[in-house]
Amino acid sequence: MPQPSSARLHEFTVVSNDRIAEGVWSLVIEAPRLAAAIRPGQFMNFEVPGNAASLLRIPLSYAAADPDAGTVEIWYAVVGDGTERLSHMAPASSSTVLGPGGHGWSAPEGCARALLVGGGIGIPPLVPLAAALRERGVAFDACLGARTADALVGAGELADLGAGTVAVATDDGTAGVHGFVTDPVAELLSAGSYDYVATCGPGVMMSRVAELAHGAGAYCEASLERMMSCGFGACSTCNVETTEGMKGACMCGPVFDASKVVVW
Ligand SMILES: Cc1cc2nc3c(=O)[nH]c(=O)nc-3n(C[C@H](O)[C@H](O)[C@H](O)COP(=O)(O)OP(=O)(O)OC[C@H]3O[C@@H](n4cnc5c(N)ncnc54)[C@H](O)[C@@H]3O)c2cc1C
Ligand code: FES
Repeated sequence: MPQPSSARLHEFTVVSNDRIAEGVWSLVIEAPRLAAAIRPGQFMNFEVPGNAASLLRIPLSYAAADPDAGTVEIWYAVVGDGTERLSHMAPASSSTVLGPGGHGWSAPEGCARALLVGGGIGIPPLVPLAAALRERGVAFDACLGARTADALVGAGELADLGAGTVAVATDDGTAGVHGFVTDPVAELLSAGSYDYVATCGPGVMMSRVAELAHGAGAYCEASLERMMSCGFGACSTCNVETTEGMKGACMCGPVFDASKVVVW
């Protein structure tokens, strides 16, 4: 049974909102209680001003939180009306955010070496996980996929956080390997030295990563994206089919044990 949501309504003020890659923006908000409460892999639901007809909030993960400064950083792709409006929020403007929501990465106690696998705008939630692993002294590597070098985010941040290897794959070969990110994943996993794999990105990518992790005997967690209408367990729009039945991504996820996911 899902636990009651940990989400609370917070007012936030925009500190900065800048383009950091092709189609991707970094939003830094000041929201001190949220910055202190949020944990790697959890998400927030943003109310974005500018369209009175739009009632739904936008679910977004976070890339970094600084409880001392009271800030949270989000990397988001502009894909439609809501994220387009978000990209126009100027410093000092304000709104509300509901969070933190859902269950983040468990990164089980005792894991000794982790592999983080991100595709496209699935990379952000892996960054705070890397910071948590570093704090625990867990060694980790990363494999990142993007359409093109200009659209890639997170490689520098993960290297700075101590990743042993950051393997990159792009669809057009402009950075790293030309092809799928699952190629370097298969190569790294074949060495058999990982006991934990965390992945976020397109469903087809995560499904293959889960297969490869299973084959290598590593426990795999995946952060799933679903449409979310409420974000706190009231509407069922975010259902994920699992071996244990339908589970709402907003309350039981967005991070799931990958071996239990039936429909990616
Ligand atoms: C738990 C969670 C965490 C997320 N974290 C991030 C993040 O860190 N950065 C980021 O850029 N995006 C993230 N997303 C996706 C983000 O919520 C959607 O891109 C956003 O809601 C689109 O809103 P829009 O109004 O701009 O687009 P719309 O006009 O609503 O839709 C544009 C396109 O995006 C698709 N879309 C809309 N909502 C979602 C959704 N919830 N999930 C997947 N596709 C969607 C639509 O099907 C359509 O193809 C996350 C989604 C979830 C569920
Ligand atoms: S978004 Fe409403 S139940 Fe999950």
